[in-house]
Order: sequence, then structure tokens, then C-alpha cells
Amino acid sequence: MKNTVNERMYALGSKRSEIRELFEYGKKRIAEVGAENVFDFSIGNPSVPAPDCVKEALTELVMNGDPVALHGYTSAQGDAAVRKACADYINKTHGMNCTADDFYMTCGAAASLTVSLNALSTENAEVIVLAPYFPEYKVFITQAGMKCVEVKCSEEDFQVDFAAFEAALNENTKAVIINSPNNPSGAVFSEETIKKLAAILEKAEEKYGKDIFIIADEPYRELVYDAETVVPFIPNFYANTLVCYSFSKSLSLPGERIGYILVPPAVKAHNEVYFAVCGAGRALGFVCAPALFQKIVPMCIGKTADLSVYKKNRDILCSALTEYGYRVVKPDGAFYLFVKALEDDARAFCEKAKAHDLLIVASDSFGFPGYVRISYCVSTQMIERSLPAFEALAKEYK
Ligand SMILES: Cc1ncc(COP(=O)(O)O)c(C=O)c1O
Repeated sequence: MKNTVNERMYALGSKRSEIRELFEYGKKRIAEVGAENVFDFSIGNPSVPAPDCVKEALTELVMNGDPVALHGYTSAQGDAAVRKACADYINKTHGMNCTADDFYMTCGAAASLTVSLNALSTENAEVIVLAPYFPEYKVFITQAGMKCVEVKCSEEDFQVDFAAFEAALNENTKAVIINSPNNPSGAVFSEETIKKLAAILEKAEEKYGKDIFIIADEPYRELVYDAETVVPFIPNFYANTLVCYSFSKSLSLPGERIGYILVPPAVKAHNEVYFAVCGAGRALGFVCAPALFQKIVPMCIGKTADLSVYKKNRDILCSALTEYGYRVVKPDGAFYLFVKALEDDARAFCEKAKAHDLLIVASDSFGFPGYVRISYCVSTQMIERSLPAFEALAKEYK
């Protein structure tokens, strides 16, 4: 193998992520014992269909659209009319003054993140992630040639530990990734939290005489369940913010790979950053996001799949697990529950859960050991069927 392939890439490709590994195991178990006996909470694949507007838009485009333009290349940064529709929507919803030229269409949040990180990557740069965090951040940050710096959130409620955050800032800090609503904790950061983070970052920008960015990773923006939960739009509170948005979860389109990067006009080095985003998109091959699904965006932006089932699932799981003796912090958004494992070693706990055909993910790769992630974007019936297994698992520890 010496000198044949890139060793880092080989390591990433040959070792499947724990989540994928468990998902594959689940498929094998389903073949062995039947789908009704396996409780697969491993993956964040939306369980509700895309809203009707997606089907209607697709039908309209396929039946009446120009078949060459429909499947043809768009501009590298995305079709201008699509980017304008995104700008109009953001301006109307969040009181911004964006234009089409602030948007770069991408293949979902994953591409948005890796393109943004590559665009910002400079020598010795560090990117702060707030643990628990989406494990791919570490892959994307390292691949972009930067150092991933973990700052733990409070165990109490998975909110920001401001003192730890401030202590992690230094002259090399380039960015912090903020993911609210959060995968895996479901925590939502309030306006007060965002304002405090912004004040700390502004002070650090001044102290070190450099730009420090927030990368707002927002695939779960619309997934909040209570009327009082508001997800602040971070560019309204901090100028140097890049928004990485995806339609994967809001419109239940994860396989279609569609999202965008927004470089708001207030970003201090706006043109440099936007062109670096275009350059990173080019260097990484993320040009011309899927054309058909770009065209869906103006026809469906602002709409969502029926997200009510996630709230129902959250409520059933939270009350049952609490009753069985698990420590649960009720999530305000996204579709994950982050629960304290009943022994210190979360991986060992997940192995015991597997014996009940409960497939849950150990938190080690989220940078927050001792917990498990339960993805509740599944059918309510499966949740209900799984409850005796959760109860039996808890009893093993009594
Ligand atoms: C926090 C977070 N960021 C990014 C992504 C990637 O999303 P996408 O499917 O849009 O690439 C995910 C997917 O689950 C996620 O949970």
C-alpha cells in the first residue's frame, strides 16, 4: 500500500463511521429477525415524506420544462434565479438585504461545510466545535488543513459553557461551528446565547486584529417543536457569519443533495470570502449543485414536510425513558435524544442495547463520552414497540 494511495483517505474510507456500521448491522438483523423486531435509532434519515409541493414542482418541471435546460449545467455557483429566490426568502424572513450573489448552491450541508472550511483555511488555523458535535466536522476541518478544537457544552443542558469557550480562543482561531438545533443533543441556542457568543468573538477579533467566523450549520433550522422556541438567525447578531443550509431535513430530501452557503453582505471581507467559497467549490468539485433540485427550491422554499410526527416521537420517548430511570434532557429541536448511558462506557452500553435489538449510537465520536444518541426520526409505531426493550435494558442496571 505504500505510496499507492493517500493514507488519510484510505483510513477514512476503509473504516466506516460507527453510525453507518450500526445502520448496516440493522439491515442484517432485519433480514434475520424481521423489521418489526429491530429498533433502529442509528441514523438521521427523515421518516416523513417530502411535502406535496415537491411532487407538484417535479411534475411541473418534468412535464412542461425545457428538457435540455432541466438537466443541463447551471452556473458553478448555482442558477441565478434560484439564488435570487433564496435571497428573497431570507430577506423576507429574517430582515436581511442579501442578493443572489451572496449565495452558493451546494450538495447539502456536508458540501456547504467542507467548501466553507476550505475557503477559510489558512496556515495554523483552528476551528472550534462545541461538543457534543456532528462527527463529520472533525473530518471536514482536518481535511481542510485546520485543527479541530473541542469545547464541551454543559452536561446539565448541553448549552454553551462560555468560560470554556472564551478560554479556547487564541490568535489562531479562525472559526467556530454553531449547530442549533443541535445534532446530537437537540439543544437550541437562544438569542441571549448567540448575543453572548457574538460579544466574546467580537472582543477576540479586536484583541487579535483578525476576522473570526461563525459557521452556522443549519440543516435543522425549521425542526423545533414548541411555540416558544425561536432559532435566532445568527447573521443578525454577528457580522462574520457564513450560513450552511440544507433542504435535507426540512423538505425530507437528504438523498437529493441540495443546500446552499450564504455569505451575508455584512461579512467584513465579503468579496474575498465569497470568491474563496467559489474557489473551494471548484477545487473540491462541488460546482453546479443538482440542477433539477435547484429548480425545486424557488417552488418550495419556506415549506416543510409534516414535522409533527417528530414532536410526537420526542414526547413519547422522553416521558417513557424518564419513567424507566434514564436521565433525559428534553430536546427543543432536531430529531435526536442524547441520553446518559447507564454505565460509564457508552460503547459497552450500546452493545448491551444491541442484545435487545435496540440500535443506538455511543457518543464517543460526538466528542462527549458517556452518552448515547437516539435518532427519533422513525415511525411512531416503532417507538412504541421499542419501549419494552428500553425498559428491560434499564432493569439490567438496577
Ligand atoms: C449537524 C449536521 N450537519 C450537517 C449534516 C449534513 O447534512 P446534508 O445531508 O445536508 O449534507 C448533517 C446530517 O445529518 C447534520 O446532522
